[in-house]
Amino acid sequence: MKILAIDTACDETSAAVTENTTILSNIIWSQASLHAKWGGILPSLAQREHLKRIDWVVKKALDTSHQSLTSDIDAIAVTVGPCLAIAGEVGIAKAKELAKKYDKPLVAVNHIEGHVLSPLAQPRTENPKFEIRNSKLTIRFPALGLVISGGHTDLILIKEIGQYKLLAQTRDDALGEALDKAARMLGLGYPGGAILEKMAQHGNPNSYPLPIPMSGREKEGYFSYSGLKTAMWKIVEAEKKKGKELLTKKQIENLAASFQNTAFEHLTRVISSIIHNSSFVIHDLLVGGGVSNNIEIRKRLRKMAKQFGIKVCLPYTKKLCSDNAAMIDVAAYFKSKEGKFVKNIAKVERLPRSKIGETFPWEI
Ligand code: KG4
Ligand code: ZN
Repeated sequence: MKILAIDTACDETSAAVTENTTILSNIIWSQASLHAKWGGILPSLAQREHLKRIDWVVKKALDTSHQSLTSDIDAIAVTVGPCLAIAGEVGIAKAKELAKKYDKPLVAVNHIEGHVLSPLAQPRTENPKFEIRNSKLTIRFPALGLVISGGHTDLILIKEIGQYKLLAQTRDDALGEALDKAARMLGLGYPGGAILEKMAQHGNPNSYPLPIPMSGREKEGYFSYSGLKTAMWKIVEAEKKKGKELLTKKQIENLAASFQNTAFEHLTRVISSIIHNSSFVIHDLLVGGGVSNNIEIRKRLRKMAKQFGIKVCLPYTKKLCSDNAAMIDVAAYFKSKEGKFVKNIAKVERLPRSKIGETFPWEI
């Protein structure tokens, strides 16, 4: 099954071609640098840029994979949500147009399902190093899916592929959003998660007494980062006053390490509590989303999972952690195996608050 997938959920214009779960191409045009000067994503700018790039990105995905839309591609897939509404609609319009023009079946995909299944994407290469990794990737169910990105902090029960239950989400900020805000307080730019990680590597994680969110209340099954953000802000302001508005490099490193340490500790405590109290045995933990690029969070998730005999599955390349269309392809492949195609293409529209596992009205 060869599928051309399109994702314009946020600020990446992406198109990809896969054969089953093997990636033949995965083109990502990132707008991050354009949004950086606004300190966040501007939906109207995202939409404009998607409109400018979408045709080029789709063509590049087909050319790179050496697949013809007319003769090789079996279906077209697209993210319908959750998304920034006016950004998501660009990809949806393009997918509908191509499905009609080339008479291909259409698969509508939930963006979070794409992130959850991103560890299942496989490289095209015959490189034996990858084969070893892939051979480990036989998922045993029930499994957990963790999506940690700029917009989401979701823990999902995967009964099997296609059957999901949201177990925990954030009450306020997403983990990536919190890391970005902390980075901004430290003058590290936007999006700052990756720079914060670099600074944190040289800092002492115990140098500032930040409160671990929901401490002792992990059983409630929520993530929360707004209180931690406020506590960080107070400490940063106090430290700035001491240094006449300037932080030293050492202070920045220590603050970055302390913030990461506390934010990650909260994440793993809530997940541990949920696994501990779960009525069934969880086998694997699939992790995706931009924050899963972070080496420290990977270490901590592995350490936590080991205590429960759970295997952590991450995407084989960092390109699959952030938004990309190959992960949408993988989700679409499993949906197509179940016959979950769009019945009436004209009815497909954006679902900005789409929930993982929901049946779309146009599939019935
Ligand atoms: O999945 P993603 O690319 O976009 C969505 O939000 O959907 O995630 C972006 C988030 C940003 O908050 C960014 O700061 C964070 O992922 N991020 C990281 C790292 N790389 C990206 N956070 C921590 N460490 C990183 N290395
Ligand atoms: Zn995403």
